[in-house]
Amino acid sequence: MNRRDFARLLAIGGAAPFLTPSVAWPKSSDLPPTPALPDERFWSAVRDQFVMPRELTMLNAANLCPSSAPVLELLYKTTRDMDQDPSQDNRAKLGDGRENTRKLLAEFLRVTPEEIVITRNTSESNNLVSTGLDLKPGDEVLLSSDNHPSNHTAWQEKAKRFGFTVKDVPTPNPHPGFDYYVDAFAKAITPKTRLIGITHLTSTVGDLFPAKEICRAARERGVLTLVDGAQTFGLLDVDLSDMQPDFYSGSAHKWPCGPKENGVLYINKSAQSKIWASIFSAYPGRVGVSRTFEGFGQRDEPAMIAFGEALTLQTKIGRAAIEKRSRELATALYDGLSKIDGAKIWTSPEASRRAAVLSFQPGGVDAHKLATTLYQKNRIGCATRGGTDRPGLRLSPHFYNTHADIDRALAAIKGYIANGV
Ligand SMILES: Cc1ncc(COP(=O)(O)O)c(C=O)c1O
Repeated sequence: MNRRDFARLLAIGGAAPFLTPSVAWPKSSDLPPTPALPDERFWSAVRDQFVMPRELTMLNAANLCPSSAPVLELLYKTTRDMDQDPSQDNRAKLGDGRENTRKLLAEFLRVTPEEIVITRNTSESNNLVSTGLDLKPGDEVLLSSDNHPSNHTAWQEKAKRFGFTVKDVPTPNPHPGFDYYVDAFAKAITPKTRLIGITHLTSTVGDLFPAKEICRAARERGVLTLVDGAQTFGLLDVDLSDMQPDFYSGSAHKWPCGPKENGVLYINKSAQSKIWASIFSAYPGRVGVSRTFEGFGQRDEPAMIAFGEALTLQTKIGRAAIEKRSRELATALYDGLSKIDGAKIWTSPEASRRAAVLSFQPGGVDAHKLATTLYQKNRIGCATRGGTDRPGLRLSPHFYNTHADIDRALAAIKGYIANGV
């Protein structure tokens, strides 16, 4: 089995209608080319690439996105091929498919395949960094205080084990601006600082961090950088050759709309000699850092291959167009929420300091009850945040949403805040 077989496997899906016992799947060939100025009709055609029923409005991309039909189809077809003939001979082509995804990931992030590790998710990617660096007593790690546990708790736990120190750089609300953060990190660096770990876009309130500028300030002082991209990979038109972090992490099942349990860890060439692999087993990748870092034993290669298909769909639509669309929908949400009496928005009013994650407190209404009611009565899916630190509802639209979705959500939220749930 060789590259040609893999190419043939991909081609079959495009040629024949793909049927499961009860479902005919939309095909990516149904999607028209992206117009210079994409209108609602075009985005509605994008929506049709997904198998979610039309009446379901998902505004929870920050948590988990649906896979598109082309991704599901390739996942099913490749899995079926493997399980119909699980011989090593038949499975050999899956290795080519996995390397094809690495190539697509490199193109997507504008780096080289030699710098890409295909992991299970952002959590694993972040932890491969916090476990793999040689940090000892006397070393310091600087974290933005609003990091996800996979980049915050993980560093704190490893500090206990390896003896280094973790320091937080506070993240005030509302977002104090890019200059504030560049300055705050630059000032917090000491001769002991080894790494800065930030979340590119926070999952809590959707604050965007000046990743490129923080990475530059760190690099100029000989400090490594880990950018958690769980909320920007597949949303923003991220260019790692421009941002130049040492490490960047992301998950397939969020904004890229890929399969579950796939992720990426980018390791800059210049950082590869500074980090140890954490898992040594069989079946590593074939190029660059994946040869030492990706030997995780048997993988779900059909899912890794379907991950590539998710990137291909986004590339076909246009990554800049997807970023623009998601930000525009988020701005429509922001503007609508800001007109609702009682809604207290935690996300920055400055469009440049946010992207497509918005959170707000819905007046005196219980956020969990509101989210449940929105889902059960209005078929609108979103997330909640409990506790006392910026609690409320989180809405995160993506390129499969339409302006009609946003209007529906705003009308429902307005009604429940005014009349109770
Ligand atoms: C900023 C951030 N980092 C990491 C993660 C963890 O992602 P995963 O569960 O895919 O590992 C999340 C999940 O929401 C996140 O928002």
